[in-house]
Amino acid sequence: MKLALSFILLLPFLSIVAAENVTYDGRSLIINGTRRLIVSTTIHYTRIMPEMWPEAIRLAKEGGANTIDTYVFWNVHEIEPDIVSSTSVWFFKYNFAGRNDLVRFVKLVQEAGLFLMLRIGPFIGAEWNYGGIPVWLHYIPGTAFRTESASFKIENEYGHLQGFYGVGHNYSDWAARMAVSKDIGVPWIMCREGDALDPVIDTVNDFYGDYYHPNSVNKPKIWTEAWTGWIQTHYEPVFHRPTQDLAFAAARFFQKGGSVINYYMFGRTSGGTSANNFAVITSYDYDAPVDEYGLLRYPNYGHIKEFNEAIKLCENPILTAKPTQISLGPQQEGAVWSNVSSGECVAFLVNVDDKKDATVVFRNASYHLPAWSVSILPDCKNVVFNTAKVSSQTTVPEMVPEDLKPSPEMCMEEKDAGGDSSSSLKWQNPLKWEVFVEKAGIWGKEADLVYNGLVDQLNVTKDASDYLWYTTSEEFMKDGSQLALVIQFQSHHLHAFVNGELLNKGENETLRIPVALRAGRNEISVLNSIVGLPSAGAFFEWINYGPSSVKLEGFNNGTIGMEGEKLEIYKPGSTGNVTWNVPSEVPKMQPVTWYKVIVEEPSGDEPIGLDMLNMGKGSAWLNGQQIGRYWLQRSGEHEQCVSHGEEGCDYRGYMYPDKCRTGCGEPTQRWYHIPRSWFKPCGNLLVIFEEEGGDPTAINFSKRRTSRLCASVAEDHPPLGKAMVHLRCPENRSMDNILFASFGTPTGYCGSFNVGDYHDVNSLSVVEKVKVSLNLIGFGRVELGNVSLSIMSL
Ligand SMILES: *[C@@H]1O[C@H](CO)[C@@H](O)[C@H](O)[C@H]1NC(C)=O
Ligand SMILES: *[C@@H]1O[C@H](CO)[C@@H](O)[C@H](O)[C@H]1NC(C)=O
Ligand SMILES: *[C@@H]1O[C@H](CO)[C@@H](O)[C@H](O)[C@H]1NC(C)=O
Ligand SMILES: *[C@@H]1O[C@H](CO)[C@@H](O)[C@H](O)[C@H]1NC(C)=O
Ligand SMILES: *[C@@H]1O[C@H](CO)[C@@H](O)[C@H](O)[C@H]1NC(C)=O
Ligand SMILES: *[C@@H]1O[C@H](CO)[C@@H](O)[C@H](O)[C@H]1NC(C)=O
Ligand SMILES: *[C@@H]1O[C@H](CO)[C@@H](O)[C@H](O)[C@H]1NC(C)=O
Ligand SMILES: *[C@@H]1O[C@H](CO)[C@@H](O)[C@H](O)[C@H]1NC(C)=O
Ligand SMILES: *[C@@H]1O[C@H](CO)[C@@H](O)[C@H](O)[C@H]1NC(C)=O
Ligand SMILES: *[C@@H]1O[C@H](CO)[C@@H](O)[C@H](O)[C@H]1NC(C)=O
Ligand SMILES: *[C@@H]1O[C@H](CO)[C@@H](O)[C@H](O)[C@H]1NC(C)=O
Ligand SMILES: *[C@@H]1O[C@H](CO)[C@@H](O)[C@H](O)[C@H]1NC(C)=O
Repeated sequence: MKLALSFILLLPFLSIVAAENVTYDGRSLIINGTRRLIVSTTIHYTRIMPEMWPEAIRLAKEGGANTIDTYVFWNVHEIEPDIVSSTSVWFFKYNFAGRNDLVRFVKLVQEAGLFLMLRIGPFIGAEWNYGGIPVWLHYIPGTAFRTESASFKIENEYGHLQGFYGVGHNYSDWAARMAVSKDIGVPWIMCREGDALDPVIDTVNDFYGDYYHPNSVNKPKIWTEAWTGWIQTHYEPVFHRPTQDLAFAAARFFQKGGSVINYYMFGRTSGGTSANNFAVITSYDYDAPVDEYGLLRYPNYGHIKEFNEAIKLCENPILTAKPTQISLGPQQEGAVWSNVSSGECVAFLVNVDDKKDATVVFRNASYHLPAWSVSILPDCKNVVFNTAKVSSQTTVPEMVPEDLKPSPEMCMEEKDAGGDSSSSLKWQNPLKWEVFVEKAGIWGKEADLVYNGLVDQLNVTKDASDYLWYTTSEEFMKDGSQLALVIQFQSHHLHAFVNGELLNKGENETLRIPVALRAGRNEISVLNSIVGLPSAGAFFEWINYGPSSVKLEGFNNGTIGMEGEKLEIYKPGSTGNVTWNVPSEVPKMQPVTWYKVIVEEPSGDEPIGLDMLNMGKGSAWLNGQQIGRYWLQRSGEHEQCVSHGEEGCDYRGYMYPDKCRTGCGEPTQRWYHIPRSWFKPCGNLLVIFEEEGGDPTAINFSKRRTSRLCASVAEDHPPLGKAMVHLRCPENRSMDNILFASFGTPTGYCGSFNVGDYHDVNSLSVVEKVKVSLNLIGFGRVELGNVSLSIMSL
């Protein structure tokens, strides 16, 4: 999400029905004459199912947000152009249905009583296919993205690219003037556009936002992307941002006069589409406080919610008074908002030392500040929150596998017509996998295209498929000619076949493949696959794909896509378009192969992930809906990898993408989220297209659930003398077992705590009592010295 963005339109939802008056000054946005602190969270409507929208919005609101932010994804809405050539009028096929129903999403935000920040693009980045721009636009003659070419001309998040395009400020100025002239009644913002023309507000996207100053003292300080996590690629271990550091960054932003923050990715953000950038995996979890399965990620969710609540207590002074910056030590500072006439006073006390704790004196009282932390004092006396002191529980999710279960025969879609549908449930046992193997090379009667030489893949497919077969055939006189096939290609993935047999595969490199050719005609085919198009960077639409050089004559025939794709054999009702085999033993490690099976929905109501550990690379569908591309690529080893999640990371000091990684050497994505709403009561069609070879019999549905909760709190946790921790069981779950409790000085992390020197031997029995009352009345409370523990089942 790094380079994303467009114009951002701050659109209070009510403006649709009852014109709000939204203005701003150097301090804040002013809505209907009232200053507002904007705490926003990003939910991308296209990345999740509409069935999940209300819950995602509800969780964002419960987490302390008053605003939802989303992009508008141009390329899902305006699917394909249809030229009326003689008049050169363009008509477009639009799609605003299902998960593309932007209007419905906006109305849900409105119904929840929240504001909306609408980031309309046209370019959005967002690790979304082609940065949100339709691929067809590139093929309109004369179009160059991100320039003043007539068919593109409009811009945003451009400041850092102006130099590459050599257009100076003229173009972004034009874009700003054009937007403002639309007179939509709400302010416009441009991300990362330091020279945004008045009255457009320039904003910051970064891990930290405190350093940013808009280009005029009359514009408020807006942080449009406070990154809660980072993009995950097919090659790298999982990135984490410790929640203490995100809270620290947010507090610093308000300390330095900020008034609008947007946590980038807050709601669940499952991939679940084929529309991802090349390097980026299908999941777009982003380490967000609500994970891609819709489960709350603790402590992130709890800690940021507490921070948002603390900020809310300070809202009025922050918005009305100017902060006075104070020094409290060599690396300690603070900000005070004080209004003598109303008696209101807010203070933030800051320790920017990234190693050592400090004790500071403020207004004659002494305060302990952990390293790299901010304490919030809504009355200039009592600390209600410190960014480094996490009392929120920690949750450990688990993926619980369940074997695929066959559906009763009456649910099977390809049942013979005229059969006795009233026959009693007959279970198909064992699970019946069916197989269709693609033919390498030209699978139809003829090629889709014949070129003399190599073509650019995207130019030919227009992204209608990930796949393009390049083929040629050669006559050889002699059996066993030993030749090398040398293929140089750009980006993504390539498989080389000779006479239908997979010889080698690779990415982004030169392949040298020794081949033994036979006398007579030899078919050489290369399957090139694109794993999503780039989403950012200057000139990204001019990148070429496919082989750039192949020794052994040119490849002159091409076939777009797979036969199974063309015949849509992943769709219910179309599986009969090819003849499937029902082998007695399911073939394993077989390339370019389709597998199909009819299965039952997994029991329970936990979110589902498809476990693809024993598969290679390809794509999967349930009931015709694309779950996504999968690729069991393992990440490299990484020196900064930690073994037990974020708890193993040092939150202190500036964040950067390599600081805290987990899952080194493991598949970068093993489970692929399948929305529950895609399942039918029975007879679910699961179709897999495997490119390299895998073992489909090892596939299962895994249910994601929170299996373990942990929490710790110390006596000095604010508010002083009343430290409290809340444990919250996931809905419909209760506590089975208390594994560990220690009042004392325990060490370790969730899942592996140890008692320390001052362990109180009664700890476990005291907490056990709470568990009993919890399971009886849903609420329990225990006091351990100064620390009280309250447990509720919600
Ligand atoms: C803003 O003012 C309009 C017109 O008076 C009113 O309909 C709307 O409810 C107000 N909105 C808020 C958030 O106060
Ligand atoms: C909107 O509010 C601003 C100041 O908050 C005020 O100057 C302006 O007149 C208002 N506009 C309308 C249409 O109410
Ligand atoms: C800047 O834009 C104006 C009109 O928008 C145009 O007349 C002028 O030639 C442009 N200047 C440059 C250097 O592109
Ligand atoms: C101080 O508070 C009073 C009463 O709430 C308010 O009218 C005034 O504008 C505030 N002054 C400053 C400088 O914020
Ligand atoms: C701090 O203490 C000094 C001396 O004891 C006193 O003069 C001053 O008023 C105190 N300040 C505050 C804000 O209480
Ligand atoms: C492949 O291309 C050649 C021309 O280069 C053509 O003669 C031949 O018919 C093509 N084969 C198929 C199967 O389309
Ligand atoms: C696509 O290919 C055609 C035919 O080779 C070529 O004329 C055209 O310039 C290509 N388009 C782009 C945008 O590269
Ligand atoms: C592919 O090659 C290009 C050009 O050498 C390089 O910039 C890019 O990082 C490579 N990508 C991968 C995934 O290796
Ligand atoms: C696939 O089968 C369905 C149902 O028989 C049919 O309507 C459709 O035209 C077929 N598709 C293709 C591409 O042959
Ligand atoms: C689920 O799939 C994984 C990966 O293939 C496998 O290791 C595991 O044994 C399977 N579990 C069940 C219960 O099928
Ligand atoms: C909890 O149980 C109720 C009643 O059975 C059900 O309606 C609800 O969907 C369940 N919630 C979850 C998250 O499982
Ligand atoms: C309670 O907390 C205060 C302040 O941290 C501490 O001085 C006191 O010793 C604590 N009391 C007990 C019983 O732990």
